[in-house]
Amino acid sequence: MTLHFSAPLGLGGRMTPPPDKSITHRALMLAAVSKGECTVANPLAIGDCLSTRGCLAALGVNIAEEAGGAGKPARWRIAGRGLRDLAEPAGVLDAQNSGTTMRLLCGLLAGLPLYAVLTGDGSLRSRPMLRVVEPLRAMGARIEGRAGGRLPPLSLLPGGGSLAPLRYELPVASAQVKSALLLAALRAEGESSLGGQLGSRDHTERLFSFLGVPLRRERDRLICSPPASIPAFELRVPGDPSSAAFFLAAALISGRELEVDGCGLNPTRLGFVEVLRRMGASIQLEPQESQGGEPVGRLHLRPAALQGTEVSAAEIPSLVDEVPLLAVLGAFARGRTVVRGAQELKHKESDRLQAAARLLAAVGGRMEPFADGFAVEGPQQLSFGRVDPGGDHRIAMAAAVLASGIPAGVEVRGFEAAMVSFPDFLGAFRALGGKIE
Ligand code: S3P
Repeated sequence: MTLHFSAPLGLGGRMTPPPDKSITHRALMLAAVSKGECTVANPLAIGDCLSTRGCLAALGVNIAEEAGGAGKPARWRIAGRGLRDLAEPAGVLDAQNSGTTMRLLCGLLAGLPLYAVLTGDGSLRSRPMLRVVEPLRAMGARIEGRAGGRLPPLSLLPGGGSLAPLRYELPVASAQVKSALLLAALRAEGESSLGGQLGSRDHTERLFSFLGVPLRRERDRLICSPPASIPAFELRVPGDPSSAAFFLAAALISGRELEVDGCGLNPTRLGFVEVLRRMGASIQLEPQESQGGEPVGRLHLRPAALQGTEVSAAEIPSLVDEVPLLAVLGAFARGRTVVRGAQELKHKESDRLQAAARLLAAVGGRMEPFADGFAVEGPQQLSFGRVDPGGDHRIAMAAAVLASGIPAGVEVRGFEAAMVSFPDFLGAFRALGGKIE
């Protein structure tokens, strides 16, 4: 699907982001191993989360769907099978494009008395897996894979149902790795203790606390004791701040106001908001309720002339999915925007540092690439361009955002890639004043 995006009057107004992808994955997996019937309202019912849902169904988990409508969100009712009673899948588990599905499932399934093979699409089969395989092996799980377990497909060999407790220092600030290990720790024969790089999004920790799983923070370590079981639960998934980020960036480029309703306001996801403030935006956060241990509410952005800023390695985990947008914004900001410590971006659905450079080049812009980030000097003279996002959803949407500041717009090839995280991106783009042809 090749689409031409433009926004003659810029983008602004009011929006509700699609349901949070990270929270949908986690809610589904924890519901699957709970001991009763759970309800997950407002799930992200597309792309990556359907990969998780499909894999859980193949593991014998019954998931019934209740359609939404007239202001009522859709609901999934999940019949939990308990921590050790997932069924052996008859076929290969296909995580498709979803790194979260594959890595978290490794933790959920490691050491269970079943044989499972996990695979995915070409992009996922080239992403690093040893980061979860190694610590899970240290817990006694038997996991094989291509290149010694570095790459999918991965085979999880049957175990006895429980694992040895883990003491481990996370070498990368990855919420996928941290969450996989916490899910495995649910079936450990004692207390597991994680240290090292723990500063990534903390949705799993919040859900554990919400569900009464014994988890505590002791100085710079996270300590989890295995629960007897996970209780049945209900929660409503908040809007995804990483999806809202595309329209926050577009509104800023357009010099328009934007109000975002029903948005997750978890501080570990809001590094982008902090950076936008440094670039000149005024952003107010209004927490209104709590869902599954997550603050949810409204976010109000008032634009201002953008200025460049420096983003340090310590900030990256809280805005890891928004880094390509920082390159886009840098091209519209006065001065130099520098991003450092973002080497993890090379291991996403595509190499997002390279993809961001290609994105700017396609519209006549420039970026100075570093091994761990980039610098963009602005403001730049950008003009119509054709972008191929290479199947990466966040690059496709970042390309559409560029169109809010280029009068002749931007053409994006293969835009359907955006569906894995933002099913109605096109509807939102139009509703906020954009044109799509
Ligand atoms: C995710 C964590 C991030 C993020 C991905 C979703 C999660 O990956 O990029 O889109 O749900 O845990 P890493 O934790 O591997 O950086």
